[in-house]
Amino acid sequence: MHFIARPLVASVARRAITLSARDAAAQPSARFLATAATGATTFTTVQVPMGKESVTLHSIWLRDHCRCPACWHPVTKQRLVETQTIPKDLAATDVKQTDAQVQITWKDGHVSTFDKAWLKDHAYGKTAQFKDLEETYEPALWGSEIAQNPPSVPYDEVMDPSNAGLRKWLENIAIHGFSFVKGVPASVEKSKELVARITFIRESHYGGYWDFTPNLEHGDTAYTSLALPAHTDTTYFTDPVGLQMFHLLEHRGTGGESLLVDGFKVAAELRRLHPDAYVTLSTTKVAAHCAGDADTYIYPKPRYHALLNHDERGKLVQIRYNNNDRSVLNHLSFDQVAAYYDALQKWQAIAHERKDLEYWFPLGPGTVVIFDNWRVMHARAAFTGYRRLTGCYVNGDDWRSRLRTVAGVNRKMC
Ligand SMILES: [Fe+2]
Ligand SMILES: [Zn+2]
Repeated sequence: MHFIARPLVASVARRAITLSARDAAAQPSARFLATAATGATTFTTVQVPMGKESVTLHSIWLRDHCRCPACWHPVTKQRLVETQTIPKDLAATDVKQTDAQVQITWKDGHVSTFDKAWLKDHAYGKTAQFKDLEETYEPALWGSEIAQNPPSVPYDEVMDPSNAGLRKWLENIAIHGFSFVKGVPASVEKSKELVARITFIRESHYGGYWDFTPNLEHGDTAYTSLALPAHTDTTYFTDPVGLQMFHLLEHRGTGGESLLVDGFKVAAELRRLHPDAYVTLSTTKVAAHCAGDADTYIYPKPRYHALLNHDERGKLVQIRYNNNDRSVLNHLSFDQVAAYYDALQKWQAIAHERKDLEYWFPLGPGTVVIFDNWRVMHARAAFTGYRRLTGCYVNGDDWRSRLRTVAGVNRKMC
């Protein structure tokens, strides 16, 4: 069978679609479908046979995705083709199919062979789908009822070289946003070995693995004995930390219970009760800072970020919320300020006042808690006495990479 390349005229280029914020909330995925008009550009296409059917694809896309060893390195999974050298009018001179493959011979003599199964998974347009970790592990939203059966893994299983316990631990974090590890020896060294099962520690201005008492060593409320309201950490980083781990090694005194709140659940409640506020907190960006130490003045670049952050499909992927670290607000209009505070207070009424969403628990030697700082908010009650809390941060990209590799998630999206 032969398929002749034909030009695609620019008139089919879709016009940009502008949705109001309200429409975007009603159809979260629609707002990312907008495509800017591309102007007068002509690219040739190829009708690619897929059994009895066929799919029309741009020649440049097919050549850019050629999987021959000259165009794509099979080990490094990196593109080798220099995309700027592919002519816009590249024509196919021959297209053949077998049961499993399609072979395209190009005018310049190059031959591209595609597995039909690969094309089915990867071709753009109607069939295009992004499938990865986030589809494998859908977040299970929780409230205070999680106290009856909180996700937990025994220390010995996590340390076992088989990686089965490690996988369970990471899957707990992916699904529930947090997990305990029980039976951990009460030492900094053993806690460090534990987190190293996931990946390296993310150092910050607080150090690597921290070990602190309420001595105001750093200019941050965490280094006091005051209560801390529910928040996520490092909203003032361009890339907020992915995981946070705590191991309380010693406490002679009272109070200091820990609180976790599922930020995705709070968001779902906000969306249900106050859809307008949900849109406002998804679209209004505000500033945060860290400036309590004389030698530290951190803020993100870009400067402003929304509290609720979504991926390109409209799926909620990150909460950035720390009311204490929010900076001066001077970049919004008069009306935007009122809308922002109204939405923020609605968020806070759910995040801080809904007992049915709060999971309180005591930390103690032997029990490590780790949570997804992009999803789960943490807090602690005020305390008295001597309290030695240790812990660390982990990068989001690196813990998710570790989960994908131990769970054997395929690498087909490369
Ligand atoms: Fe914190
Ligand atoms: Zn090639």
